[in-house]
Amino acid sequence: MKPEVQRAAEILKRGGLVAFPTETVYGLGADASNANAVARLYVVKGRPTDHPVIVHFDSAERALAWSRDAPREARILAERFWPGPVTLILKRSDKAGDFITGGQDSVGLRVPAHPVAHELLQAFGGGIAAPSANRFGLVSPTTAAHVREDLGGEVDMVLEGGASEIGIESTIVDLSAAKPVLLRPGRISKSDLEEALKSKVEEKEKSSVRHPGGLERHYAPRTPMRLVATHALDKEISAFKATVAVLAFSRPDERVDYWLRMPRDAAGYAKRLYAALRELDSAGCEAILIEAPPDTPEWAAVRDRLSRACNR
Ligand code: TXA
Ligand code: MG
Repeated sequence: MKPEVQRAAEILKRGGLVAFPTETVYGLGADASNANAVARLYVVKGRPTDHPVIVHFDSAERALAWSRDAPREARILAERFWPGPVTLILKRSDKAGDFITGGQDSVGLRVPAHPVAHELLQAFGGGIAAPSANRFGLVSPTTAAHVREDLGGEVDMVLEGGASEIGIESTIVDLSAAKPVLLRPGRISKSDLEEALKSKVEEKEKSSVRHPGGLERHYAPRTPMRLVATHALDKEISAFKATVAVLAFSRPDERVDYWLRMPRDAAGYAKRLYAALRELDSAGCEAILIEAPPDTPEWAAVRDRLSRACNR
């Protein structure tokens, strides 16, 4: 085992905070059994304490021990997608304290696939509570450098693990009620879930459950952002007197100083999205115009993050 992973596990055991890489985004970790450690996690993140946080494990066995009455669907999804970018919401066992669940009777569980995350979870041996390692309401970090920009000296350690392969947060499936509900789309799509379960998965309505992924404005940079249809992009750019930044599929337009060209495949786009938004946000423009991606199922997760980021 890498010595820095060993050190990170020891920091967690002492109640400290460790940011670590996962294949989706970087997480800000604390011992999920330690109320004081989790309390500090909420302070550093700037998150309201009634918002639940996902608990991470090195195996499905350990994860499911934090649930009770897990339905058949939980085993199927765990077997199919763990380790990987899926979070299951299940009724909690008494291992999951109120300080993790925001007082709800359910708990969010995930077994991440990133090798550094896995090694850390194995060395730690328990559940690590970890929201994305950004300040509440801002874009999730996909590199260790993003974490340091956001949280700087307030975490005890930041583990390096390269750029997150997937780049957007995990798919969240609620299995705590009668029927499976998709709470947050991600790389694993609604149809991937339906195929594994051989049944329909509902999408959440404007939610009754409290979860920040469900707040209308989330994952947002500070500069105002707007989604623009491909055919309207040229006109929108002309309409701007001040400097504008653009995130688009097409080649740069000479009139625009800050233009990032994005991949035409949804997975490649997702991987680059948050770093691109951070970069354009720091350009100090009046607005960020984003060429809207296609309205097809494989773009659902990206469109979800973009529409939240634009909603302010
Ligand atoms: O990919 C990810 O899921 C990353 C990495 C670090 O694992 N984590 C992440 O955590 O995105 P966070 O806290 O930024 O978003 C987790 C979402 C929140 O919207 C939270 O409220 C929701 O999961 N959640 C957690 N437990 C829940 C529960 N019991 N019921 C409903 N929603 C829950
Ligand atoms: Mg988050």
